[in-house]
Amino acid sequence: VSSVYLFLPCWYMSSLISLSSTKPRSKKSIAKYFNTKGRYEEVNTYLREDILAVNTSILQPPSAQCREIHLTAIIRHGTRYPTAKSITEMQEFYNIVRHNASGEQSWLQEIQTQWTMWYTEDMDGRLVQKGVNDLKHLAVRLSKLFPSLISEKKLRGGLIKFITSSKHRCVNSTLSFKAGLTFTDTLFEHAVNDALMRFFDQCTRFVQEVDNNPSAVTEWDKFKEGPEMKRVEEKIADRLGVEYNLITQDMAEAAFYLCAYEFAIKAVNSPWCQLFDEDDAKIMEYEADLREFWKRGYGHDINSKSSCILFHDAFSRLDKAARQPVTEPVTVQIGHADTLLPLLTLLGFFNDSDALTSTNYATQTQRSFRTSHMMPYAANLLFVLYDCGGGDLRLQPLLNEKPVTFPGLDDQQNSMPLYQDVRNHYRHLLSGCDFETECRLLKHPAV
Ligand SMILES: *[C@@H]1O[C@H](CO)[C@@H](O)[C@H](O)[C@H]1NC(C)=O
Ligand SMILES: *[C@@H]1O[C@H](CO)[C@@H](O)[C@H](O)[C@H]1NC(C)=O
Ligand SMILES: *[C@@H]1O[C@H](CO)[C@@H](O)[C@H](O)[C@H]1NC(C)=O
Ligand SMILES: *[C@@H]1O[C@H](CO)[C@@H](O)[C@H](O)[C@H]1NC(C)=O
Repeated sequence: VSSVYLFLPCWYMSSLISLSSTKPRSKKSIAKYFNTKGRYEEVNTYLREDILAVNTSILQPPSAQCREIHLTAIIRHGTRYPTAKSITEMQEFYNIVRHNASGEQSWLQEIQTQWTMWYTEDMDGRLVQKGVNDLKHLAVRLSKLFPSLISEKKLRGGLIKFITSSKHRCVNSTLSFKAGLTFTDTLFEHAVNDALMRFFDQCTRFVQEVDNNPSAVTEWDKFKEGPEMKRVEEKIADRLGVEYNLITQDMAEAAFYLCAYEFAIKAVNSPWCQLFDEDDAKIMEYEADLREFWKRGYGHDINSKSSCILFHDAFSRLDKAARQPVTEPVTVQIGHADTLLPLLTLLGFFNDSDALTSTNYATQTQRSFRTSHMMPYAANLLFVLYDCGGGDLRLQPLLNEKPVTFPGLDDQQNSMPLYQDVRNHYRHLLSGCDFETECRLLKHPAV
């Protein structure tokens, strides 16, 4: 057996690894450095033992009286195939390894004689079976965590509203979430809403100033050309016994993708992962984080402002629930990493004191802006509104099923702040942050 199946218990897994013919370069798995291509189980490792495990005592309302009355969940789609562009690059790299690499290493032999390029361009970003399970299992866990709000009965009663991006992987994720709550194949309605779930495509200023503007990501480009990445490329070339100029930055990325996708989709520690040691993986992780930082995160103000429409949507629903009676107890919204990252940024999460740049890799090793932790497949942000009686309303945010505190509100004794305090904390956004205004192109750009 050369592949290691990681759904097995840990003790069993490690014995398999030691028996495996492909001796790992290092005992440490690099799976926690896969950025937005990472498994949810790398972020919540207890799920490797029991994918339906829930710890209800993580929620600690200030009094026994508190009841949850509304929940908004913004969820990234589950595990997906690579995009057509990545598949093309993976094919190109595979060809290099097949035809140009030489060496006796068992992992290299395995790639050259046993591994087949099974990715085809038509898979283009679609949900895989593991992705279906990601959302099904998440639905089951959330129903265990919030039984009074999320259940088959509530679903059948039409009390769970679904809004999704139009992308196939998101619609399929929506159906998968529902399938986690019911075995019947009744079709429950969902609304497709790209204005809300793919706001980044519709924010003109973001598209022009960032998404279609190469100079918005110069730090990322410089890092890709820089000494850390060069070293990773050379090490890959050395391991393959090929000339340095064959391993470009794109090829290093394709190699990392091959390792990451085989792991996410098939749960196998594939021979491709032998091309990286842990130091290399950390550099690859930083490279991808740099891109997200400048394209979706704190790099440019418009990145987060493009999510104003989603921010207001969530808070207007919370306001409505706060006024009671609650007519829409649960809203489940399915989108992308590109949907969640700008919103988390707008709310101030993962805000390091220094920007990520091409030259500060070494000083950013402890950064909080780390997409491997923030944004695996099925990443989710939950807002749970509690009624604690006598007009005492509380709002608990959870990120990937863990309670978090709103940045800047964390001087509170209790991690479950008053809803009014949250509104007050974000008052500048509640009274501004207008999508139309923010996304309008400036007629006379400042020079
Ligand atoms: C559940 O969460 C509580 C509170 O965070 C923690 O003290 C406890 O150890 C957890 N239990 C398990 C089984 O993880
Ligand atoms: C790589 O292999 C291909 C196919 O055998 C060959 O045409 C090409 O010249 C090789 N490139 C290098 C740099 O060795
Ligand atoms: C969702 O994706 C899975 C896995 O690719 C596929 O088998 C299934 O047919 C899809 N479901 C729908 C409703 O598209
Ligand atoms: C992020 O941090 C910087 C400085 O540390 C601060 O000026 C900025 O307001 C913060 N952004 C958000 C959205 O909280």
